[in-house]
Amino acid sequence: MKYGARNKITAKVTSIKSDQVMSLVKFDVSSPIQMASVITTESVEELILKIGDTVQLVAVSKGQPIEAVLLAFAAGQTAFGENYAQELHEKADALPEAEWHFIGALQTNKAKLVVGRAALIHTCDRVALAQELSKRAKSAGITQRVLLEVNVGREPQKAGVLPEDVPALLEKVRALPSLAPLGLMCIPPAEGDPRAHFRALRQLGQGLGLPELSMGMSADYEIAIEEGATLVRVGTAIFGERAG
Ligand SMILES: Cc1ncc(COP(=O)(O)O)c(C=O)c1O
Repeated sequence: MKYGARNKITAKVTSIKSDQVMSLVKFDVSSPIQMASVITTESVEELILKIGDTVQLVAVSKGQPIEAVLLAFAAGQTAFGENYAQELHEKADALPEAEWHFIGALQTNKAKLVVGRAALIHTCDRVALAQELSKRAKSAGITQRVLLEVNVGREPQKAGVLPEDVPALLEKVRALPSLAPLGLMCIPPAEGDPRAHFRALRQLGQGLGLPELSMGMSADYEIAIEEGATLVRVGTAIFGERAG
């Protein structure tokens, strides 16, 4: 990810020592059993190294306690993704040094909880939502970065704009004063090979001059990177299964 906030945040993170973060954690992290039940810190470090500098790893912390986020943060993970507006709001307040991404379905009336707190909103998929995000960003005096979510598998139950409707939505989003559309995001169908969907998203983005591509989760982030992802959203491979 190439936008400016990343460097600023990384600089802040390096000034926080692991033991300072550990001291915030309310249980004995020296116990391997408790540690393993919250997060495998080793795997987040490995993933950061494996993914490298050109792709941003967004650790999906939805449903995870703040302690798990703090451990990942101490291990060097700076960006976290949340699916629920209220949860993002609370966790971003608890750890403002991290970079928070909103990756869930966003109701228009929850936009105010996310604007300004999320470095990037991955799920802008309709004009009414874009208008509300822009309105909130304008009154906060900021430009909100967004991605357009694309329903690449044309699944009726899924959020996202259909591929052929992306240009029209993008034109409207570009015309809004306080939104910066940087790229596209997708969640391909659970069944089948995601590669063709990732490739189609990259081609769509390229044709529209959109550099960022948020694609790939625990099961398929390697394929997504091969196909040009600039952000991957990885949850269970870092934190284990979510509660509930
Ligand atoms: C939009 C989105 N991206 C990524 C993830 C992470 O998925 P996984 O746990 O398979 O890595 C989730 C999980 O809920 C999600 O909703």
